[in-house]
Amino acid sequence: MDFPKEIFLKDYKKPDYLFDTVDLEFQLGSDETIVTSKIAVSPGNEAGTSSPLVLHGRDLKLLSIKVNGTELKSDKYTVDPRHLTILTPPAGVFNLEIVTEIYPQLNTSLEGLYRTTGNFCTQCEAEGFRKITYFQDRPDVMAKYTCRIEGDKTLYPVLLSNGNLIKQGDLEGGKHYALWEDPFKKPCYLFALVAGQYECREGSFVTCSGRKVTLRIWTPAEDLPKTSHAMYSLKEAMKWDEEVFGLEYDLDLFNIVVTPDFNMGAMENKSLNVFQSRLVLASPETATDGDYAAILGVIGHEYFHNWTGNRVTCRDWFQLTLKEGLTVFRDQEFSSDLGCRTVKRIADVSKLRSYQFPQDAGPMAHPIRPHSYIKMDNFYTVTVYEKGAEVVRMYKTLFGASGFRKGMDLYFQRHDGQAVTCEDFYSAMCDANNAQLPNFLQWYSQAGTPTVKVTSAYDASSQTFSLKFSQEVPPTPGQPMKEPMFIPVAVGLVDSTGKDMPLTSIYSDGILRTVSNDGQPIFTTVLQFNKKEEEFIFNNVPERPVPSLLRGYSAPIRLDSDLTESDLYFLLANDSDEFNRWEAGQVLARKLMLSLVADFQQQKTLALNPKFVDGLRAILRSTSLDKEFIAKAITLPGQGEIMDMMAVADPDAVHAVRTFIKKELASQLKDDLLAAATSNRSSEAYAFNHDNVARRALKNTCLAYLTSMNEPDVTELALKEYNSATNMTDQFAALAALSQNPGQVRDDALLDFYNKWKHDYLVVSKWFALQATLDIPGNVANVRKLLSHPAFDMRNPNKVYSLIGGFCGSPVSFHAKDGSGYKFLGEVVLQLDKINPQVASRMVSAFSRWRRYDETRQALAKAQLEMIISANGLSENVYEIASKSLA
Ligand code: ARG
Ligand code: ZN
Repeated sequence: MDFPKEIFLKDYKKPDYLFDTVDLEFQLGSDETIVTSKIAVSPGNEAGTSSPLVLHGRDLKLLSIKVNGTELKSDKYTVDPRHLTILTPPAGVFNLEIVTEIYPQLNTSLEGLYRTTGNFCTQCEAEGFRKITYFQDRPDVMAKYTCRIEGDKTLYPVLLSNGNLIKQGDLEGGKHYALWEDPFKKPCYLFALVAGQYECREGSFVTCSGRKVTLRIWTPAEDLPKTSHAMYSLKEAMKWDEEVFGLEYDLDLFNIVVTPDFNMGAMENKSLNVFQSRLVLASPETATDGDYAAILGVIGHEYFHNWTGNRVTCRDWFQLTLKEGLTVFRDQEFSSDLGCRTVKRIADVSKLRSYQFPQDAGPMAHPIRPHSYIKMDNFYTVTVYEKGAEVVRMYKTLFGASGFRKGMDLYFQRHDGQAVTCEDFYSAMCDANNAQLPNFLQWYSQAGTPTVKVTSAYDASSQTFSLKFSQEVPPTPGQPMKEPMFIPVAVGLVDSTGKDMPLTSIYSDGILRTVSNDGQPIFTTVLQFNKKEEEFIFNNVPERPVPSLLRGYSAPIRLDSDLTESDLYFLLANDSDEFNRWEAGQVLARKLMLSLVADFQQQKTLALNPKFVDGLRAILRSTSLDKEFIAKAITLPGQGEIMDMMAVADPDAVHAVRTFIKKELASQLKDDLLAAATSNRSSEAYAFNHDNVARRALKNTCLAYLTSMNEPDVTELALKEYNSATNMTDQFAALAALSQNPGQVRDDALLDFYNKWKHDYLVVSKWFALQATLDIPGNVANVRKLLSHPAFDMRNPNKVYSLIGGFCGSPVSFHAKDGSGYKFLGEVVLQLDKINPQVASRMVSAFSRWRRYDETRQALAKAQLEMIISANGLSENVYEIASKSLA
């Protein structure tokens, strides 16, 4: 391996040359594809007249270079494995023509142009375009593109690229061509080409200004019936973006293409989004409610990128969160508006806690805008995406929906057609709202989850209630010392009857900070906490309140409050902020689990606090609460979340405790769980709407609790559910419930399920994932066996994520104390790295938090990392994660 080079944000320089137009031509052959790229080049603002033009390129065979029509002599340029450098380009504007040859059918990395199941497809973000042709492969080089595709008409009847179809026709030798033109300037990472055997579902959308847009979703013919939910989702997304942000689609055609082999979820290429199958194809029989929700969210996400990402893009890859954090926030809001806001918020916060918090506390911790990277693909992370979305959400919390909209409007007014930075977004938000947010930009540059401590005091004589805050941002790699951050804390005060108190005046440092300004009472206020320590004093508080803190999870922090257990039970029962009702239950559950983990480690008998059981029983019996909310509220925090809170993570103890609580709750709440499980059944046809989803969620959550008892009557019930299910949500939930208990029933059900669904690769992926996470000692052997199952394919990322990724997420087998899980992953990573470095890199990340475990496990995991890093020909992707994990 060449020594991997680290790239730094502080070294950013504008490009020396600009590309105004790019005309691409692809001759798709059976073995090789010839790419001709004609570029109109002009000097960049800061270019010296004769600075060399350095183009990126990888795995390309250079056939020819011409400058202004003349072949360039070989002493006028240099080629190395990563670059083509034109030593003395002409001064002023000139034309560059480069012809390269590439081999898409050999490209298993799935970046650049690749061929899979006979079809051609591209993935250029982040730096895949350089695998197609030599180019200044960076997002601040924006050009207008045309793309001419030529290929066999029978093999590749459909030829797609960005923008509008200008011309098409037949050619000699059974070939045909299509010429596409994209009228919008774009960076090369948004370029796309698709060619192959597809059919489409066509729909249309009339925009707010009355333009009719043709919508096409392309899949292999047999999958067309499974695209109706995706089409629905797309239309809803288009409508929502107009209604909420005034953003209208800007072309007359919008294409979505489905491919089984794709590294990430999906890609927002201009007017030609590409999706992995799982995120488009759905039918009630084959997809779960979770799948339907994911499709809605991701179709929305990619569509929303058209404005947040494409029309306004990133200056450099360090700014990735500018488009991803913002677009995740937008898709979260979209899903909230179409479903249930509280439930969506709970799901998003759980994801943050389970995946992002651990990342932010480990060797790969990075700010939402990283300072450096070796391989950009390693920074498409939960931090950049999900924590980034939380940072965007804080602007909305501070400025309200209309203030946020003003900020967005100003952002587009200033930056449409540009490649910009996170500061540009921040400035638009602040300027539009005449606001200053001291220390807010720290969110972009400091890694680590801040911990906020709160203590409260009530003074009856002065009728004041005080909240004292202090914050601590933990050290992270390269950042030993931290500055205070700007933390918006949404607060309400709940009186003894459970009602919110009107908030009148609030002081800090003797200065009036918040008060209702229009005479209307305020029940939730957003405190702007931006110092190391600060005290806020509420006036006119007639009795000691219970504070409801960080309502709606107003900042991505860990909150450590002095609320007592009885305060928390009170909030669980009464808080008007539904999110905080759930949160109170979670705080109680986390405390309970941690104390039982300590008991388990000291070999004490485990016993469940009866107050906890009562609290959950009350929620379960509620007739006024949303059913999906109830399902969430009775679900325990994940094992990852608890391990993340321990000084030394103990997967065995956490697993044992979670299993114990589940069974104990099941037996103590059996009647209520049975009632909920049976009364929420439905014989209606499947529909994806909130009421139905919520009913299924509650029923299936209860079923999983009941089945965990492993008693004949409940097993019977789960089997009956499995056999009578008319949709995948219910069928898979019953299968998963049954799979909790080792034995013949489980084995039979798993086999039955496979036989039912072996013709459907997406369902088979679920089956892999389920088995990967089974908590039987020695499941490593089982997973290893599945690697050679005829349906498994190491080249298909979705299957790798299901089986290997699923396995890494299961504490019992992956962290098996004999090291067999680590050894297995070590072998798989090396094998995968040869095929697909991006996917291998995601898998090796499972090792990154090895220091969190006991010494035995540390030694075993470290040995695997050392084995990996010393392997020959390791990719930069895996090298970066492995070396940073060991550092
Ligand atoms: N921009 C895509 C999204 O919608 C993700 C593409 C990531 N690609 C990669 N090679 N890391 O989020
Ligand atoms: Zn995105």
